[in-house]
Amino acid sequence: MESFFLQVVQKLAAAQIESPRLETRLMFAEVLHRLPSEIFQDITITEEEKKKVEDMLEQRLKHKPLDKILGHKEFYKYEFKVTEDVLSPRQDTEILVESALEILQNISKAYILDLGCGSGCIIESLLKDLPSARGCAVDISDKALILAAENADNLEISERICFLNASWFDTDFIIKIGEKFDMIVSNPPYIPSADIDTLDTEVKEYDPRLALDGGENGYDSYAQIARIAPRLLQDGGYVLLEAGIGQAEKIADIFIANGLRLRKIVNDLSGIARCVILQKAVAENKNS
Ligand SMILES: C[S@@+](CC[C@H](N)C(=O)[O-])C[C@H]1O[C@@H](n2cnc3c(N)ncnc32)[C@H](O)[C@@H]1O
Repeated sequence: MESFFLQVVQKLAAAQIESPRLETRLMFAEVLHRLPSEIFQDITITEEEKKKVEDMLEQRLKHKPLDKILGHKEFYKYEFKVTEDVLSPRQDTEILVESALEILQNISKAYILDLGCGSGCIIESLLKDLPSARGCAVDISDKALILAAENADNLEISERICFLNASWFDTDFIIKIGEKFDMIVSNPPYIPSADIDTLDTEVKEYDPRLALDGGENGYDSYAQIARIAPRLLQDGGYVLLEAGIGQAEKIADIFIANGLRLRKIVNDLSGIARCVILQKAVAENKNS
């Protein structure tokens, strides 16, 4: 008779789950408190452990994302807790972190603002890699902020980050923030409202709508962030934005229309224009 491991692989494959063997290994590793590399297909497990794997399998067959079943996900170099209150951190977003680090290595004691921090994966990866940097993480969701704060604790960066529950559409948003930054990073919601129902179950049922819905054309949050960014940045400060497929040029145009300069559009590993980098000009000395 086939091992329990293989039975799980087959059930996941039959449900069109993309990497059934890897996901089975990750479930077993979680239940057995082992590394995924220590899991092999004939591994013996107790009845109690089997029950736990079956419970995970049942959830996964309903297309709940694996990270939300396990309760954590690796992003960039670090592990983040995830729940249904936050967007599952995406590998596509790592290029934004890498692009930001390239710029920030030349800025000492950088002060960074993350607009829409979710799990905290972007700003907290940056702060962990840059021990002299500080940050402010904003989100409209208080549940996301609670989780982001827990992730900051786990990464031991809590003393260098503050959290603010606010919306960038608030009329007093600039006053609430009350400071200027060397860099703004943001992966705002960018799916056109009408497209949300066409997304995979994993996304439309398990990522919060607040993290997805970019308004009628997908650009509502970019347009608002572009309006406020110049007042939140130091002269010479940078904005790095994640772009959905086919959105990068238009996002750049929106920010250019608000006075920022386009520095670069960076592709992700699949060749998709994913990260738009802009900069606020350095003001000319009025006396010179
Ligand atoms: C696409 S998710 C990105 C989360 C995280 N930065 C990441 O990359 O995984 C967008 C985040 O923006 C937040 N958000 C949406 N609209 C907002 C608004 N008007 N003001 C502040 N945050 C908002 C959502 O709650 C969500 O956490």
